Amino acid sequence: MTDQLQARCVFLGAPGAGKGTQAKRVAAQAELAHISTGDMLREEVKSGSALGAEAKTYMDAGKLVPDQLIIDMVKARIQKPDAASAWILDGFPRTLPQAEALDQNLSGDNALTHVISFAVPEAVLMGRLTGRRTCSQCGAIWHVDHKPTQQQGVCDHCGGELTQRSDDREEAIGERLEVYRTQTAPLLAYYGDRGVLREIDANRSPDVVFQELLTQMQ
Ligand code: AP5
Repeated sequence: MTDQLQARCVFLGAPGAGKGTQAKRVAAQAELAHISTGDMLREEVKSGSALGAEAKTYMDAGKLVPDQLIIDMVKARIQKPDAASAWILDGFPRTLPQAEALDQNLSGDNALTHVISFAVPEAVLMGRLTGRRTCSQCGAIWHVDHKPTQQQGVCDHCGGELTQRSDDREEAIGERLEVYRTQTAPLLAYYGDRGVLREIDANRSPDVVFQELLTQMQ
């Protein structure tokens, strides 16, 4: 068991780069809060809230939901007690206004410690996304080829039903990749200039990527 890491970390990467898979595992191992804006939005959709209904139209089309909606959501989340000192932001920020809003909220003892960029060739991402399956009960992430469950369609961890995300269709994936290139990739230069950016080769086995993340986040 690793000691708790005092990391306040952003996981940055294209759709399917493995941010969610690794964030869940690192957060459990190193006792960090895992703050996934995608998961939070999917919970809102599931609950039938007005925010969820608004977000769903953007998500299903592979577009980003409006900045202010996400910024307000993350601000509220980061103030909760479990996120007092150490966390992983998975999927946020994704635009320059989001990154600037995060900077304004964090300073001194609370400042970002790492931004980790997950590098995976674009040709690999489509296969990862179309084959992804997610447990509807516990949220575990599987893959039909790379990480299959013992019984097709059933989660090995909790027996829950596996589902395919509504934005993991080829048309929506194409749009999400384009949105990443145009709106999120510029954050690499933004964080590079601040000296907090580290890149990892995330086109290796999940175990190798996990070990390197733990080392990088020390
Ligand atoms: P979100 O849920 O954040 O989706 P994403 O960024 O597109 O990322 P993914 O969850 O698709 O990929 P991942 O990198 O987590 O990969 P995973 O680990 O699952 O956002 C969804 C939508 O919400 C957005 O499109 C937008 O509409 C909205 N949204 C969210 N945040 C927002 C924000 N800040 N601003 C505005 N809108 C926002 O892995 C993928 C698959 O690959 C899995 O099957 C896994 O098993 C497999 N895999 C993982 N690692 C490996 C490996 N090393 N080798 C082989 N297979 C692997």
